[in-house]
Amino acid sequence: MRLAAVLLLLLGTLLGLGAPQHNDPFLWLGSLRSRGYPLGSLQADNTGGECPAECDCPPTFPVAMYCDNRGMKSVPFVPSRMKYVYLQHNQITAVPDDAFANATNLVWLMLHENHIASVGKKAFAKMASLDRLYLNHNNLSKVPANLPSSLRDLRLEHNNITKVPPSAFAGMDNLTILLLNDNSFQDMGAALKGLSSLTLLDVSGNQLKKVPEGLPEMLHQLYLESNAIDSIPNNFLGHFTQLQYVRMAHNQLTDKGIPANVFNVSGLVELDLSFNKLERIPTVSTTLEHLYLQANQIKEFSLGSFCSVVDVMNFSKLKVLRLDGNEISLQDVPTESALCLRMAAEIAV
Ligand SMILES: *[C@@H]1O[C@H](CO)[C@@H](O)[C@H](O)[C@H]1NC(C)=O
Ligand SMILES: *[C@@H]1O[C@H](CO)[C@@H](O)[C@H](O)[C@H]1NC(C)=O
Ligand SMILES: *[C@@H]1O[C@H](CO)[C@@H](O)[C@H](O)[C@H]1NC(C)=O
Ligand SMILES: *[C@@H]1O[C@H](CO)[C@@H](O)[C@H](O)[C@H]1NC(C)=O
Ligand SMILES: *[C@@H]1O[C@H](CO)[C@@H](O)[C@H](O)[C@H]1NC(C)=O
Ligand SMILES: *[C@@H]1O[C@H](CO)[C@@H](O)[C@H](O)[C@H]1NC(C)=O
Repeated sequence: MRLAAVLLLLLGTLLGLGAPQHNDPFLWLGSLRSRGYPLGSLQADNTGGECPAECDCPPTFPVAMYCDNRGMKSVPFVPSRMKYVYLQHNQITAVPDDAFANATNLVWLMLHENHIASVGKKAFAKMASLDRLYLNHNNLSKVPANLPSSLRDLRLEHNNITKVPPSAFAGMDNLTILLLNDNSFQDMGAALKGLSSLTLLDVSGNQLKKVPEGLPEMLHQLYLESNAIDSIPNNFLGHFTQLQYVRMAHNQLTDKGIPANVFNVSGLVELDLSFNKLERIPTVSTTLEHLYLQANQIKEFSLGSFCSVVDVMNFSKLKVLRLDGNEISLQDVPTESALCLRMAAEIAV
């Protein structure tokens, strides 16, 4: 991608580029360790209760069990008092039905970065308080069955999931974060239906041919990049109330697949349509702040895509506009743009 020119229309401050990062789940438990708490020297003890020899169970925080990075090949016994269990970064290959038979009080269960290829149908079924389940970076070929409906944060990215059953997330009224990116599924059926609290959905890096059905109304961030989506349904963004970030880079979108005004909705802050096959700049709302269109086949700069021709006083709030790697140059940007795009700190063509 060649950056031919960067036109500075107005020198403004570049505010809040990009979406917020996923929060760090290890906030205070993590700080317990980084403050030099001597976890390594603790063994099973008389004050905190039993603890597998390979793990650390700090007596001052007897509901947590640290077993990460120990080269473990299977899940150790988890005492029933445990709420926070860290098993990430080991070599665990399976989670049998009885792996957590006594651990029904779990709130956080970290199993990411293992080699898990199989999960028993009852493995997580009895965990009525489970809030966070991290199974990302494993070798799963399907979404585990009977996941607790109490989950708020479910991470399954970087596995080899080829199928998402319709009932995979059934009853998860409180699910807020669902990460399924970098797997191998082609569609999701109606699996997302009823996820009334979902705010972040990442299904990028799969083989989706269309936008998933029944996208939850409360979504705030929707990541669909690196799939094979060639069109967008009519009124695609019409029913969302909180949506701010839509990322669809690296798909197969053409002008034909984009209904008129589908992106002309207020509320959206960032729209990424880079690395597609667009020939025109789609109409966007004057409230949009970041628009990424680089590496398409855009042939003309249409000011009407950003501002009303009738009401030039209704300025666009666009701060960043990327148009590099298209078939236009700086000369194609009309001088009137300076008024309409007065907030733009950066326009790259
Ligand atoms: C599992 O929990 C039950 C009841 O809470 C207890 O009686 C039993 O001893 C526990 N099993 C082990 C192996 O600790
Ligand atoms: C992942 O599972 C496949 C079978 O589905 C197996 O062939 C492969 O060796 C596994 N990879 C790892 C890293 O465990
Ligand atoms: C969702 O959270 C609320 C409030 O914490 C709780 O009462 C409810 O049971 C939860 N729903 C599920 C399905 O766990
Ligand atoms: C992913 O799963 C497919 C079929 O289930 C299998 O052929 C392939 O080897 C798996 N890939 C990896 C990296 O394990
Ligand atoms: C975009 O939507 C607004 C408000 O719904 C409307 O006034 C405007 O005409 C639309 N822009 C275009 C180019 O159709
Ligand atoms: C400016 O245009 C937006 C849509 O692009 C519309 O929702 C809004 O009402 C307009 N504002 C004014 C003051 O005309």
